Amino acid sequence: MAPLDTAAAGLTVTPLAHALGAEIVGVDINQAPSADLVAAIRSAWNRHHVIVFRGQQFEAAGMLRFAQAFGALDDHAATPFYRLEEYPQLLQITNRQIGGKPSETRNTGRNWHSDYSYTDHPAAASMLFCVERPPVGGDTMFCNMVRAYEELSPPLRAFLDGLDVVYDVGLTAGINERDPAKTAEVRRLNPPIAHPAVRVHPDSGLRALYVSERSSHFHGMTAAESRPLIDHLCAHATRPENVYRHVWRPGDLVCWDNRTTMHVALADFDQTKPRHMLRATLLGEKSGFVVG
Ligand code: SIN
Repeated sequence: MAPLDTAAAGLTVTPLAHALGAEIVGVDINQAPSADLVAAIRSAWNRHHVIVFRGQQFEAAGMLRFAQAFGALDDHAATPFYRLEEYPQLLQITNRQIGGKPSETRNTGRNWHSDYSYTDHPAAASMLFCVERPPVGGDTMFCNMVRAYEELSPPLRAFLDGLDVVYDVGLTAGINERDPAKTAEVRRLNPPIAHPAVRVHPDSGLRALYVSERSSHFHGMTAAESRPLIDHLCAHATRPENVYRHVWRPGDLVCWDNRTTMHVALADFDQTKPRHMLRATLLGEKSGFVVG
């Protein structure tokens, strides 16, 4: 699909890294977007995989309306404890105190992953708003899974095209440090599930590697056979030249396509300093089969 003329829609799109990522100027997320604006943003998003809007104001209703213009939103029932009560379509990723204790979501996203890959509706995309960030660190890194796929040898691509990979919520970094009862419930809600190891983007038709640090094994293969290949693919996908590192500022809305990227939230900051983010998640199509 040819990219739309984003300049005609009043947008300036500036790449942020060679592999992926672009900043878009000319959007106020709290203004209802026109269909033309949505199409132009989508075009830039499909091309750059991660898009960044800076200098935005956080308004829950405005952010949700903006997100909904790109598709139906997940209500985060797969991880029901961490959504905002009044807006279940907003997931908190915060180290603020909740109920007198540091939030359990303070260490969300600490290994490379694609959102909700351990569910039967892996996320299409995510939009994360930065309300507060620590003085240094707390960055998020993204990698391009289309390039990762394209840069594999043809025989390995052909092998992966025929495989399903099993995702296990238990491989989420830090999950065992959370409240045991909540963790048990999240595991019950999300039994290990197999998805195609190569995901085809519904708009662009691009093929992207869909294997992460939350993958336990390839369906039908043993863990011993799978592990070296999963480790190789993760290392290959996350090579520095295939990565964009986002240094947050309050007022940033960063949107990533979970079908063509992975991300990791870095723990390189002082947890006594606030980091407060809110995420809307765009529902992906139903996929996968639960494994024993
Ligand atoms: C996530 O994995 O969605 C969290 C990303 C972040 O907090 O930077």
